[in-house]
Amino acid sequence: MNNTFLKACRGEPTDYTPIWMMRQAGRYLPEYQKVRSGRTFLELCKSPELCVEVTLQPIDIFNMDAAILFSDILIPMEAMGLELEFHEGKGPIFPQTVRDKAALDKLIIPDANETMSFVMETIRLLRKELKVPLIGFAGAPFTCATYLIEGGSSKVFWETKKMMFSAPDLFHGLMEKITRCTIDYLQAQAEAGAQALQLFDSWAGILAPSDFTAFALPYVKRIIEELRPSGLPFIYFANNGATLLDYSVRSGADVIGFDWRINIGDAIKRVGNKAVQGNIDPFALLLPKDQLRARIKKLLDDARDAKGHIFNLGHGIHQFTPPEQARIAVDAVHELSRR
Ligand code: CP3
Repeated sequence: MNNTFLKACRGEPTDYTPIWMMRQAGRYLPEYQKVRSGRTFLELCKSPELCVEVTLQPIDIFNMDAAILFSDILIPMEAMGLELEFHEGKGPIFPQTVRDKAALDKLIIPDANETMSFVMETIRLLRKELKVPLIGFAGAPFTCATYLIEGGSSKVFWETKKMMFSAPDLFHGLMEKITRCTIDYLQAQAEAGAQALQLFDSWAGILAPSDFTAFALPYVKRIIEELRPSGLPFIYFANNGATLLDYSVRSGADVIGFDWRINIGDAIKRVGNKAVQGNIDPFALLLPKDQLRARIKKLLDDARDAKGHIFNLGHGIHQFTPPEQARIAVDAVHELSRR
C-alpha cells in the first residue's frame, strides 16, 4: 500500500512528494474516451464497474499517488430532485433553475445511500483494487448553488449575485439545503471507504472576501466540522482563491489547495501549519520536457517549507493535453523530490 499521499496530508515526513491531478480521469485519455463512447457521461457516472475502470486508468498508466472517485459534483444536485443534463461542448444544464421560494421548497434532502448507491458501490469496489489512497469529493455549497441558480455554467453570475444581495434569506436557505445534502453524501462516502475528502469550490474566486466570509465559508466550515469524526484528511480547494487564502485557512481543512495564480512559497507562508496542494498551471504541461521539469523543480523548491506538500495542477487537466506530458510531470515530481 502506497500511503505517501495520506502522510503528506497529515504533515508527516515522506520519501518523496506525492502527486495526483485534478480531473486525472477524463477526456485527455484515449482509454477514457473508449469507455465513454456509446454512452452519456451520466450513464457512465451511474455504472460502478465502469467508474472503477476509469478511476484506475491514471493510476495504472502514470503511477499517480492517489485516486479520485470518478463522479461529478453535480450528481447530488440531481439527487435533490433537479433534472440534470450534460450537453456536448456546453457543460452541465439544469433546465429548472432554483430562483424562488417555491423551487427551493421543492428540493429534497436525499438519503445518499439510497439515491446515490452507485457512488458508494464504486467506492467499495475501488477499495478492493487500489494500492493508493482513494479521495472522495463533493462540490462546495457555493459552487453547487451557482449551477442551480444560473441553470448551468456562467461567466458573470448575475442571477447568483442578484439572489445574494436582493434575497439573502432565499440564498442562505438554498445553501443550507445543499450543505445538509453534502454532509450526508460525504459521510456515506467515508463509510463506504473513501480515505480523504476534497471540496471543490470552483467559483469561490468570484466573491469579495467579505462576501466569501458571509455567504460561502460558514457552510464549508460546517461540512468539515461534521466530517471531523470520520478522521479523514480534508482538502479544501478554492479556484482563483489566492485573495481568499487568509479566510480559506479558517475552514478547518487539513490541506489547502490553490490554483496557479499564486507562488506556492508565498501561499505556504500564509497557510501556516497546514499541508498544501498544488499548483502548477495545467497549461504548463504543454512546455517542452526540459522546461517542464525545470518548472517542477522550482515549484518543489518553493514548497520546501510546507508542513506537507501534495503536488497537483492548479485546476483540472485540460482535455487536449497530450497524455505523454502528464507522464513527464509525474516522473519529474517523483524523481526530483526524492529525499
Ligand atoms: O477529477 C477526476 O478525475 C474525478 C472526476 C471529476 C469530474 N468532474 C469528471 C468529469 C471531478 C472531481 C469533477 C468535478 C467537477 N465537476 C467540478 C469541480 C472541479 C472544476 O473543474 O472546477 C465542476 C465545476 C464540475 C461540473 C462539470 N462537470 C462541468 C463544468 C463539466 C463540463 C466541462 C468539462 O470539462 O467537460 C463536467 C463534465 C465532466 N466531469 C467530465 C468529466 C470527466 C467530462 C464529461 C465527458 O466525458 O464529456
